[in-house]
Amino acid sequence: MKAAIVVRYGGPEVLQISDVPTPEPAPDQILVKVRAIGLNFADIFGRFGVYPGTPKPPFVPGMEFSGDVVSVGLEVRSFKGGERVMGYSRLGSHAEYVVVNEKLATVIPAKMSYEEGASFLVSYLSAYHGIVRLANIHKEEKLLVHAAAGGVGIASVQLAKHLGAEVFGTAGTDEKVRLAKSHGADHVINYTTQDFADEIRRITRNYGVDVVMDSVGGETYKKSWHLLAQMGRYVLFGISSVSGKGALNRLKVATAYSLMKPIFPPSLLGSNRGIFGFNLGTLTGKEGYFREAATELLKLFDLGILKPLIGQIFYFDRIVEAHRTLQTRQSVGKVVVLMGDA
Ligand SMILES: NC(=O)c1ccc[n+]([C@@H]2O[C@H](COP(=O)([O-])OP(=O)(O)OC[C@H]3O[C@@H](n4cnc5c(N)ncnc54)[C@H](OP(=O)(O)O)[C@@H]3O)[C@@H](O)[C@H]2O)c1
Repeated sequence: MKAAIVVRYGGPEVLQISDVPTPEPAPDQILVKVRAIGLNFADIFGRFGVYPGTPKPPFVPGMEFSGDVVSVGLEVRSFKGGERVMGYSRLGSHAEYVVVNEKLATVIPAKMSYEEGASFLVSYLSAYHGIVRLANIHKEEKLLVHAAAGGVGIASVQLAKHLGAEVFGTAGTDEKVRLAKSHGADHVINYTTQDFADEIRRITRNYGVDVVMDSVGGETYKKSWHLLAQMGRYVLFGISSVSGKGALNRLKVATAYSLMKPIFPPSLLGSNRGIFGFNLGTLTGKEGYFREAATELLKLFDLGILKPLIGQIFYFDRIVEAHRTLQTRQSVGKVVVLMGDA
């Protein structure tokens, strides 16, 4: 089969399309013929070798996909050949075939396309886990979503609006501002032309926000932490601010983390605020919870309340360009890569 292989850690150009053996499903896995690949920022971090648990090159990267079940392992009971599925795993989706544990795959609803299937689980499960499970957002609470026009950003905006929150967002261009608003965000600030913290203080008359969904980190974290109102919940789940056009390595990531001012736990008591962190890629043993969450989210998809925004579509032979687009802030919503005959 054809696969895009990370031949050494580095920029988008280290992805090379080659022929490799088709994987065999283990007893608890399904083998899927990939139709569409959903790109995630974790794929960028994995390619640079800075994502936790990334193997040494060469390896086939890729977390998210949709496609058709080809065969199933001996112990698999929930799938059969020919079913349309979407799923996520640590690695392997940048290929014509991928194997995945059956617990990490779900049948695609009839009215969902392969492109939407490849764009759904990681973004919406991240939004759900942060906003619903961790922050337990309530109606009319104020939520700040950074990178509001991105994959997780748009998912968070749609989900939070459905739950009755007032949604504030930040984005890096006027076009992204327009898009996040068109998906329901109430106030979106282009942080390249306005100070988002000042603007939120002005709009909320110094109240601030009840919940922050922060996947950017760095300076954004510093400013946003101070925007948290009493009983505020901070959800930190990424550090895309370390990325950009240049190279990325473990030292750069470690330095960026160390520059984020540590929190002194007793200070949380006096200020009545809290902070959560999560990483779906390192979270294990909670498949049942995520399956239930996916079922809830798919009901909302069915009702037309949640709908992934697919910003850019590339064919597999242009996967390098697809990676570059996501890495350098040029994407909106999800970047999807189609296998030739999808
Ligand atoms: N912890 C988890 O389990 C988990 C799961 C999913 C995603 N995430 C994290 O959530 C974030 C969003 O992921 P995604 O796949 O949906 O990506 P995305 O938001 O679609 O794309 C990243 C966006 O981040 C913003 N950004 C800010 N600083 C950046 C920089 N220096 N370089 C590049 N982009 C920068 C850009 O938006 P603007 O132009 O608007 O600034 C960019 O478009 C990532 O940090 C990812 O690692 C974490």
